[in-house]
Amino acid sequence: MTDLPVAARPSIQSATHNVETVLWVKHWTDRLFSFAITRPPSFRFRSGEFVMIGLPGETEGSKPILRAYSVASPHFADELEFFSIKVEDGPLTSRLQKIVAGDQILMARKPTGTLVLDALKPGRRLFLIGTGTGLAPWLSVARDPDAYDRFERVIVVHSVREVKDLAYRELFERDLYDDEFMGEEAKAKLTYYPTVTREAPPPGVHAGRITDLIQSGALFRDLGLAGDRFDPAEDRIMLCGSMAMIKDVAALLEGQGLVEGSNHEPGDFVLERAFVG
Ligand code: A2P
Repeated sequence: MTDLPVAARPSIQSATHNVETVLWVKHWTDRLFSFAITRPPSFRFRSGEFVMIGLPGETEGSKPILRAYSVASPHFADELEFFSIKVEDGPLTSRLQKIVAGDQILMARKPTGTLVLDALKPGRRLFLIGTGTGLAPWLSVARDPDAYDRFERVIVVHSVREVKDLAYRELFERDLYDDEFMGEEAKAKLTYYPTVTREAPPPGVHAGRITDLIQSGALFRDLGLAGDRFDPAEDRIMLCGSMAMIKDVAALLEGQGLVEGSNHEPGDFVLERAFVG
């Protein structure tokens, strides 16, 4: 008897989905990880869109288990990156967190979503506000030069419980500014605004829920902006993350005179709930 080498793991078959190969996996914490898969030539998407990905059912003949994941790569990338939580008893993530390079996963043939620049009216400042893995679509939008062509400032707000949950901090604090193609644009226009809610922040990190930072005006003061509220004429906002945060921030935005947009009718802000479970 010999053990099967990794390369001989059984391959997945699907008549309905693309079958893609895992290229790399990075574990950030015991609750967060990222991975990338091959991009089929036929798969087109706009930066900020999501797609259903998953694994076959565990028993023969059972349905595949798929969840919506924002693509974290920009639309021109060769590989498709994703940012995920790990839920111990989650039907998908309990298994997905064990994937390694060379494994295969399922992906729907078409993406969709409202967290796209086309769903926003023109403006001067773009706020990309996310909690937890709700950062994923901003990894796509903030790495797309189109965001910097359309806006004078791009502000990525990432709210997490603890500093260790600030995945991709180095990308936003260093790598994007050093990037060969985007570095100059990023230096001129991109601001990263991390905030933690359950421990004292170290230098460079803010403290408090995004709702409180908006209501108190601290967000605007910290960013050096005039005024202490959003300006419907100039500010455009995208929201992604926990359901409660989205509901509460959307209500604040509406209270400040901003109107929700969609692919059909661009507006001042758009929202999408992050994948959970
Ligand atoms: P808090 O720690 O005060 O709950 P989670 O890990 O639970 O998904 O939370 C991610 C981040 O979202 C945390 O910083 C959390 O703050 C914040 N958050 C959760 N619900 C809300 C809400 N209704 N309004 C603003 N921030 C929220």
